Amino acid sequence: MTAPRRILLTGASSGLGREMARHLAGPGVAFLLCGRRADALKAVATELRDAGATVETALVDLTDVAAAQDWVDTCAVQPVDLAILNAGMFDGRGRDGALESPMRAAVQVETNLTAPVTLGLRLADHMRDAGQGTILFISSLGAFSAHADAPSYSASKAGLTAFARALREDLAPDGVRVAIAHPGHIETPQTEVHRGPLPGIMPAARAAKVILSGLARGRSEIDFPGHLRWGLRFQSLLPWRMQARINRGLRFWVDDGPGDGKGK
Ligand SMILES: NC(=O)c1ccc[n+]([C@@H]2O[C@H](COP(=O)([O-])OP(=O)(O)OC[C@H]3O[C@@H](n4cnc5c(N)ncnc54)[C@H](OP(=O)(O)O)[C@@H]3O)[C@@H](O)[C@H]2O)c1
Repeated sequence: MTAPRRILLTGASSGLGREMARHLAGPGVAFLLCGRRADALKAVATELRDAGATVETALVDLTDVAAAQDWVDTCAVQPVDLAILNAGMFDGRGRDGALESPMRAAVQVETNLTAPVTLGLRLADHMRDAGQGTILFISSLGAFSAHADAPSYSASKAGLTAFARALREDLAPDGVRVAIAHPGHIETPQTEVHRGPLPGIMPAARAAKVILSGLARGRSEIDFPGHLRWGLRFQSLLPWRMQARINRGLRFWVDDGPGDGKGK
């Protein structure tokens, strides 16, 4: 794969998105970045410009489907070589033992599934017209392990993986490539609120490198760490009660600070 020059990236203001941008930055690279936090996005943009890239930023709440579509259309006035749909959020059982409320689950599904699905479809149109481009979806190993403490997160990531695989098949004859990353736990603000075991957790810079070097090598699915991926493959063959028994050692809750009452 030749080095992408025009790169659209959602969720660039922190964590994995910021590290992927750092990894890709250099002279001749044009970034199209979005996030909701102006200060954080501005700081990333300054750093990337210092590394020689050009950067356009947009403050977009991706749960606003119309605004997100407008942003993509603006970005695609020139062909986008690589679109990384990375933005996401994590919610689950709270300190009080209750699962997230239906409203919080809805926001999670809008952010992790509806947004990348609708953006992916729009980008597919633009890239099909251009006859080139790559879309990289950031899913999660959570797509392969439904977890009792995070049902809507599990569902959003499983749904995203199914969508991306279907889109990949549809776009392949048009010269547009779709890749999916399924990372395990990464040191980002997302895991800072996770209260429970985090097996195989790795720094965000390392995760970014694994994803982008896998993409550069032409891989369609980039799943890591390998031991967890293979463990989940094996686990998925077991009856659900045995799967639940294994998951018992990995129970967690999500810390929203004092007074957290997600079930309310
Ligand atoms: N950390 C992990 O262990 C892990 C594991 C597997 C997969 N992942 C996935 O990796 C991706 C990046 O997560 P991260 O760990 O780097 O978390 P993070 O540091 O919390 O970053 C999330 C990013 O998404 C953006 N975002 C969230 N909601 C948004 C919205 N409604 N509109 C626009 N932007 C929004 C945030 O930007 P603003 O706040 O500025 O809007 C931020 O830049 C997510 O899809 C996550 O599910 C993470």
